[in-house]
Amino acid sequence: IQTQLMGDIAAAADLDAIEALRVSALGKAGTITALLKTLGGMTPDERQAKGPEIHSLREAVTAGLAARKAELDAAALDVKLAAEAIDMSLPADTSPRGSIHPVSQVMDELAEIFADMGFAVATGPEIEDDWRNFTALNIPETHPARAMHDTFYFPDTDVEGRAMLLRTHTSPVQIRTMMSQQPPIRIIAPGRVYRSDSDATHTPMFHQVEGLVIDRGIHMGHLKWTLETFLKAYFERDDIVLRLRPSYFPFTEPSAEVDVGYKQEKGRRIVGGNGDDAGHAWMELLGSGMVNRRVIANCGLDPDEWQGFAFGVGVDRLAMLKYGMDDLRAFFDGDLRWLAHYGFGA
Ligand code: PHE
Repeated sequence: IQTQLMGDIAAAADLDAIEALRVSALGKAGTITALLKTLGGMTPDERQAKGPEIHSLREAVTAGLAARKAELDAAALDVKLAAEAIDMSLPADTSPRGSIHPVSQVMDELAEIFADMGFAVATGPEIEDDWRNFTALNIPETHPARAMHDTFYFPDTDVEGRAMLLRTHTSPVQIRTMMSQQPPIRIIAPGRVYRSDSDATHTPMFHQVEGLVIDRGIHMGHLKWTLETFLKAYFERDDIVLRLRPSYFPFTEPSAEVDVGYKQEKGRRIVGGNGDDAGHAWMELLGSGMVNRRVIANCGLDPDEWQGFAFGVGVDRLAMLKYGMDDLRAFFDGDLRWLAHYGFGA
């Protein structure tokens, strides 16, 4: 029986054949099962003689079945692996990649440029109180600048009774920094700001970067050099010239509007601005000035000891100028085709 069965097992071509053999030998009505049953009817002496023989037959057949099954499994796996081989000539996956939004990219660039000049990045909350957003910055309650900022107010005041609002500029970060750090201070404060305004060049949410330096003996020359160095690095050209026009901000005195000029050539990416006789195109870009003595005093510092300058610039506008975008609203539409058109994203 053993020779016959082992021959059959070796010849079994697939798992079904193995299973059929197992049932016919070891199943309820199987040949070996029948032999095992005869042991019950034998005399002790017969059982002593036949028992080991029958048991070793069963063990040999069981082992033979398992071995052949393993062989067939391995062969089936080989076939499967061969069929599933990776085809290196197939075209690559073309699903779109994510990318850094132009506004985020410009903010990162600014942080790097200013880090080289020793500026740290400071941040503050987008929900501010009117003391930090206005009063401490020398914009009292009756000041027309409050109306000019088209402020979004919250219906309730904070626990100290201060009106709460969405910050209209990043200048409250100046206040937070001066009140929590001893000078010398050199920071930039990038972030979102909010004003109730919407057209091609205004969105109700936009981005600013504020700069603040507080130290001894700081003057307008430091301001001009800092802005010139920053703008040359940002626009990646050396022929940038600055024009400071007298202006007014409650928190700086004197104040200057900063225009950026560059020699006009064809094919450059900087767009906008008006030409002048010397062939310069000018763009109005920043607000700036020497920090008002009152603001320094409001933050608990002695304005006779500490002076400084501050500036503010629109990040979205900087991005538009560098990448030649013309509608600010498109920045926040999340349209992948728009991003791709300007070289961002897939
Ligand atoms: N905070 C001003 C604004 O939003 C910009 C500014 C900042 C001007 C710092 C001068 C100094 O309009």
